[in-house]
Amino acid sequence: MKADELVHRMNEYYSRRAPWHDTYMGYGDNPSMEDLLAPIIRWFETYVEGADILEVACGTGNWTQVLARRARSVTATDVNKSVLDMAELKSYASNRVSFEVADAYTLDGLPGTYNAAFAADWWSHIPKSRIPAFLSAVCAKLVPGSRVIIVDMLPAKNLTYLGTHHDEEGNLIHPRKLPSGEEFEVVKNFPTEEELAACVRGFGRDVAYRSHDRLRRWMLAFSTG
Ligand SMILES: C[S@@+](CC[C@H](N)C(=O)[O-])C[C@H]1O[C@@H](n2cnc3c(N)ncnc32)[C@H](O)[C@@H]1O
Repeated sequence: MKADELVHRMNEYYSRRAPWHDTYMGYGDNPSMEDLLAPIIRWFETYVEGADILEVACGTGNWTQVLARRARSVTATDVNKSVLDMAELKSYASNRVSFEVADAYTLDGLPGTYNAAFAADWWSHIPKSRIPAFLSAVCAKLVPGSRVIIVDMLPAKNLTYLGTHHDEEGNLIHPRKLPSGEEFEVVKNFPTEEELAACVRGFGRDVAYRSHDRLRRWMLAFSTG
């Protein structure tokens, strides 16, 4: 499958998955999410305190709630209206939270400029050939010196067992099935720290990386321009 088709199928997968998203992710209410992910939140919160944040691929708003407690404002975006509809049902600590439909590869049509960007569990879904498009789109929306924070997953131990394979551009392809019986293939890449550093070179400086084995997440932050 070509990158365009992969991107299209993944949008569709997450659109249909919206009602089950929080259950799949193991997310409960906001206090339990804050408890569960505290080591990650502590790592990045100084970067987002008081900031005007652009959140990319916000899904059903779980991280938006975390950001809203710390930021001056949050513009939370996703390509799928179905997940934003669910996000809008949640409550947020600040009333300066807004939701916008936006494709992460262009971020066209967003109002305003921002001084921080955040994306959780999104990078792993980007086909390798599309990473520069995503980083260009984000950086174009930020004032110079903004902080970009990316959080994503470390690999599970049994990837082969899960039926994964690689496509021709080296993306790991993961089969997914919804309770409805519909079957999809999504990109699920697990970059190393060195690969991440190479990707953001040219887009930012002051790159910081950390991983957390128990929470099976890596975190990356860098400053623009
Ligand atoms: C694994 S979910 C993560 C959602 C949320 N950040 C979280 O951690 O719960 C991936 C999200 O990416 C969104 N998505 C998929 N393709 C996208 C695109 N091209 N632009 C923006 N969002 C996209 C999906 O709709 C989905 O909400």
